[in-house]
Amino acid sequence: AIDISRLLQETGYMTLDTGYKNTGSCASTITYLDGNKGILRYRGYAIEELAEKCSFVEVAYLLIHDKLPNTEELNAFKSLLERFALIHEDMIHFFDHFPSHASPMSILSVMVNSLCNYYPEMSDDPLENIDMTAARLISKIRTIAAFSYKKSMGHPLVYPRHDLSYCGNFLNMMFDKPVKPYTVRPEVVATLNKLLILHADHEQNCSTSTVRLVGSAGVNLYASIAAGINALWGPLHGGANEAVIQMLEAIHADNNDFEKYINKAKDKNDPFRLSGFGHRVYKTYDPRGTIIKKACDEILTVLNISDPLLDIARKLEEIALSDEYFIKRNLYPNVDFYSGIIYRAIGIPTNMFTVMFALGRLPGWIAQWKEMREDPSTKIGRPRQVYVGEPERPFIPLEKRD
Ligand code: ACO
Repeated sequence: AIDISRLLQETGYMTLDTGYKNTGSCASTITYLDGNKGILRYRGYAIEELAEKCSFVEVAYLLIHDKLPNTEELNAFKSLLERFALIHEDMIHFFDHFPSHASPMSILSVMVNSLCNYYPEMSDDPLENIDMTAARLISKIRTIAAFSYKKSMGHPLVYPRHDLSYCGNFLNMMFDKPVKPYTVRPEVVATLNKLLILHADHEQNCSTSTVRLVGSAGVNLYASIAAGINALWGPLHGGANEAVIQMLEAIHADNNDFEKYINKAKDKNDPFRLSGFGHRVYKTYDPRGTIIKKACDEILTVLNISDPLLDIARKLEEIALSDEYFIKRNLYPNVDFYSGIIYRAIGIPTNMFTVMFALGRLPGWIAQWKEMREDPSTKIGRPRQVYVGEPERPFIPLEKRD
């Protein structure tokens, strides 16, 4: 087989592909994505079926182990999640030292990065301990997210319970209060479960590529995941779910002046974009968006919530999808467009939406990191550049510079 990259290097040629629009960085067996047909599969299974029939824990297992777990495997994985649900008590003090306005994403990234100091076995043999580390991460990230919220509210911490599911435990740790006990509703658990599954992997997006790139330098899994969390934070990536709600609120406050926002999004001199619209790979409706839109209608009905932002989102979608600008560029709602309305309905504060995305994406990051490390052909990620600066210049001593 011809090694194209070696051939290009030897002949002095290089490919320049800013934003990696058409460059594959790895071969992977994890996620299949057809952006023209709107198909998404994890390990060969259709996203629609997984979202309908599986728990998030099963999907996490599937992504990491390349097989749906049988009952025994699932129970073993669940008991690891239970065993690792707490964080070291010393780490709880970390929360006290962030300013009250600290971003939950920065807290999450710091806390996940710090886990390697408390569970350093990853540094000795990263692949031997991957199962334990994966379970630790998946379980602890949920506790970190809920504790971070409780600390930000000044409420006492609620510890994980053995009788609750992964999502049930998260909701209980978030919302249970000594004076007002929280009732974990199965419909809310099912919806959260679905959202996390839909976010669990999406091949070589910005955060996943970051996890792989950082990991390719030999960094441990915790630190690689912390880097992925930072990448996800960006408003063009995971941060878009928070930006969508802010945009819908702004439209609401502007007396539903849709035209103003559509025109702003179309104006090339204005940096504003319709958040939750467009995707690098999907040139049709994001299949995750279709499922989330339906789930959004269902859960709002169950909870008897009438959110004006849902009506605004529906109307905005309708206007954009019949506008020449959006049609010509194949811009459709993506996974983030309706997810925030669900999070609002179940009580998650807006500044934690991207944290929720990170909780969902974590198994995908772990699976991708594992695949990268297990592949003997992996090399450190090191793109080239096309130098367009000055040619060689004579040095000017300090006293002669203007
Ligand atoms: N609103 C208005 N115009 C848009 C939008 C949008 N949301 N998205 C893309 N465009 C336009 C661009 O201005 C560009 O127009 P041009 O050809 O006239 O210059 C054209 O569509 C192509 O856009 P690019 O930026 O080249 O597309 P790219 O693949 O680089 O970006 C992205 C994809 C970042 C998702 C983009 O569509 C965007 O910024 N969307 C809004 C933010 C968002 O929702 N991000 C979440 C993505 S999904 C996820 O990460 C989970």
